[in-house]
Amino acid sequence: MIPLSLAQIARVTGGQLCHGDPDAVVSGEVVIDSRRAGPGGLFAAVAGERSDGHDFAAAAVAAGATAVLATRPVTVPSVLVADVPAALAALARSVVDALPAVRIAGITGSSGKTSTKDLAAQLVERLGPTIAPAGSYNNEFGHPLTVLRADAATRYLVLELSARGIGHIAYLCRVAPPRYGVVLNVGHAHAGEFGGLDQVARAKGELAEALPADGVAILNADDPRVLAMAGRTEARIVTFSSAPVSDAPVRAVDIRLDDLGRPGFTLLTPEGAAPVTLRLHGAHNVPNALAAAALARELGMDLDGIADGLGAAVARSRWRMEVHQRPDGVTVINDAYNANPESVRAAIDALAHLAQAGRAFAILGHMAELGGTSRASHEDIGEYAARIGDSGLAGLIAVGEEAAPLLDGARRVRSWTGEALAAPDGAAALELLANRLKPSDVVLVKASRAAHLEGVAAALEGEAGQ
Ligand SMILES: Nc1ncnc2c1ncn2[C@@H]1O[C@H](COP(=O)(O)OP(=O)(O)OP(=O)(O)O)[C@@H](O)[C@H]1O
Ligand SMILES: [Mg+2]
Repeated sequence: MIPLSLAQIARVTGGQLCHGDPDAVVSGEVVIDSRRAGPGGLFAAVAGERSDGHDFAAAAVAAGATAVLATRPVTVPSVLVADVPAALAALARSVVDALPAVRIAGITGSSGKTSTKDLAAQLVERLGPTIAPAGSYNNEFGHPLTVLRADAATRYLVLELSARGIGHIAYLCRVAPPRYGVVLNVGHAHAGEFGGLDQVARAKGELAEALPADGVAILNADDPRVLAMAGRTEARIVTFSSAPVSDAPVRAVDIRLDDLGRPGFTLLTPEGAAPVTLRLHGAHNVPNALAAAALARELGMDLDGIADGLGAAVARSRWRMEVHQRPDGVTVINDAYNANPESVRAAIDALAHLAQAGRAFAILGHMAELGGTSRASHEDIGEYAARIGDSGLAGLIAVGEEAAPLLDGARRVRSWTGEALAAPDGAAALELLANRLKPSDVVLVKASRAAHLEGVAAALEGEAGQ
């Protein structure tokens, strides 16, 4: 972070300095986890469900933090503010304003933000010092904390913007106004909270609206709701497409998947064509790669650099389409990070592709936050799983009561010969699978974050060779 005195921090946040030297300087990281507080840093105390950060104020200062951002008095140097996220936002905005040379890109969409952000960051880092969040640091806490990591050496910010309601993305865009905005897709993630896909589109399109006239809106031409955002921005439009026929300037053609589901394609841009092979798994990473390519191209990267960078990029964030081959010949796809209807379909597609030489099993948990369409969405996914490939999945294991409609949907498919199995929890799912798996079988593990099925995937991976 750029060095700021406590007096400056108090002024920017409208806070009150307590017990501190106004000239003491914060130059280290701003954190909300006291265990990560370090020399010269600022610890923002947040009252959570389980614990209250204010109780750790002294520990953070003992660990070297210069001061604490707090909403109630603490005994150590602190800046007292009314609202911590608002104070972080104000601080982040002041850092952005102090660094006018930094080029800011925001990435949003219902699925694939983190995957795309990680790809884009690995390209943009080749152009110069880049700050990008770890994992899904994309909300009113993670976003300003990421922005605050920028300093005088920073050239690019590649940010992930999330929304659970109208106005959220507009807010994040005020914290760090992007000149480049990427919108991936409009899907059912959190659709229940939004009240339908049109509302999701309204919210995601706030990124397009926030872009300036000299900015660039990078839009997925294959998603009509995203393409329609072209009418909501003053920025120049650049589209990308993985459809066989398209007039988008950034495209993927000749898309194919290797045995492990890694996509290869020809990247087409106005500058020419280049072959790309991704290290990531699943065809859904093709649009993500195109979005990253379009952004890097706008930032000045040439076609060869983009193709090379995409081919070198690795999965930086855990539990998204991790493919693990056990010595006994079983393959485990750990996609347990999160789930919504689009990402489950994408994962089932990848599962079916990987299982061409064996049988496909899926351990699926509940997809959260779908609102009134939840039951129907689960049934549709179950039906999709029973129809995929030549004969559907060999086994579909639904974990937990709320995931049971998956099985009802699968059973709707009369011709399906696979097994529909209910498991009360992950351990039971593992037990059901244990005496069924044979070499060359492939197992997908996926559910919403709340289900924490990554432990199930880890257990399956760990069973290698047994
Ligand atoms: N373009 C895409 N279309 C459909 N599914 C995708 C796409 N990209 C990634 N996924 C899948 O969606 C899930 C989440 O991916 P990722 O973490 O990149 O998305 P996200 O938008 O950052 O999610 P979150 O809202 O939880 O931060 C993973 O299971 C991944 O395999
Ligand atoms: Mg994310």
